[in-house]
Amino acid sequence: MSLSKAASSKVISQKSIEERLQIQRLVPTTRIVKSNAGSDVIKGLTQTPKTLPPAYFYDDRGSELFEQICELPEYYLTRTEMAILQQFAGEIAKITGACELVELGSGSSTKTRILLDAYQQLGYPLRYLPIDVSAGILESSARQLLVDYPSLQVHALAGTYELALTQLLPTQLPSRMIGFIGSTLGNLKPQECDIFFSQITNALQVGEYFLLGIDLQKPKHILEPAYNDRQGVTAAFNLNILEHLNQRFEGNFDTTQFEHWAFYNETENQIEMHLRSLRSQTVELRALKLSVNFAVGETILTEISRKFDLDTIQKQLTTWGLVPLHVWTDPNQWFGLLLCQLQA
Ligand code: TRP
Repeated sequence: MSLSKAASSKVISQKSIEERLQIQRLVPTTRIVKSNAGSDVIKGLTQTPKTLPPAYFYDDRGSELFEQICELPEYYLTRTEMAILQQFAGEIAKITGACELVELGSGSSTKTRILLDAYQQLGYPLRYLPIDVSAGILESSARQLLVDYPSLQVHALAGTYELALTQLLPTQLPSRMIGFIGSTLGNLKPQECDIFFSQITNALQVGEYFLLGIDLQKPKHILEPAYNDRQGVTAAFNLNILEHLNQRFEGNFDTTQFEHWAFYNETENQIEMHLRSLRSQTVELRALKLSVNFAVGETILTEISRKFDLDTIQKQLTTWGLVPLHVWTDPNQWFGLLLCQLQA
């Protein structure tokens, strides 16, 4: 029996999606992973004050919750950056010409679509390398993009961006642009930020591009609600890190016994996100043979979100050879988008 016309054309388009999709799981040398797995958690939970590595936010549930954060009325960041992209994506595409798009922490790739549209409009070939620690969201958003952009090729990399940046092969297109948007840079401590810039510099060839989206300094009364939304999504996101640890390391964190606490530190120009223990308690992570005591009111620092000054960050980028060619912002100057080029 032959397939009906409709069914066979569906098979063909499905096949062409498979042909245009490559998903690569990045794994550091196995022995290192095994012996290191969880050592960052042990380190964070045994120091004073306690901390946790933010990478543990982004399991599949965490990535979903983060998508919800991006749509909250209080969370102006995503909306503002999106508006800047919408207005200036065409300019960006004209400056860079045809180039491969690499995106660090791609999530659902919603903002990337604006860039893809701009490159498509100029008739450039579309090649996209999303990089994310959540393999689930990586694959589902890649598939959706391939349906919507029939000429697009996707090479998705599941893993940390540190790892991904060392494994990029030379691009087949005339140039490459690494995108790091959503103000994820703000989640790095100043020293980590410099290490990150050096990794970007190493991953790019001279003449290639780096697109950076950063949240700018602004009054506390605008900043704090963005991290303390009324629906409690940010609180759920913060607490989910404990669920993730439970699952990953056979833990027994009781998430009803911790609360979300976020505030703006005006001296450091950063939002600080904590989980606060509501009582004195002991938590076990059996797979790590770790037992942790919490005093009532004791906190775990889970994330910082630094807010930037445009002049300072431009100077810093320039010292790494990442020369800002253009800076775009919104009418309130709440968010900045910088297109940099690696110069010798
Ligand atoms: N890059 C985002 C930011 O700094 C990450 C983020 C938003 C976040 N809300 C959060 C991280 C809540 C932890 C908890 O804005």
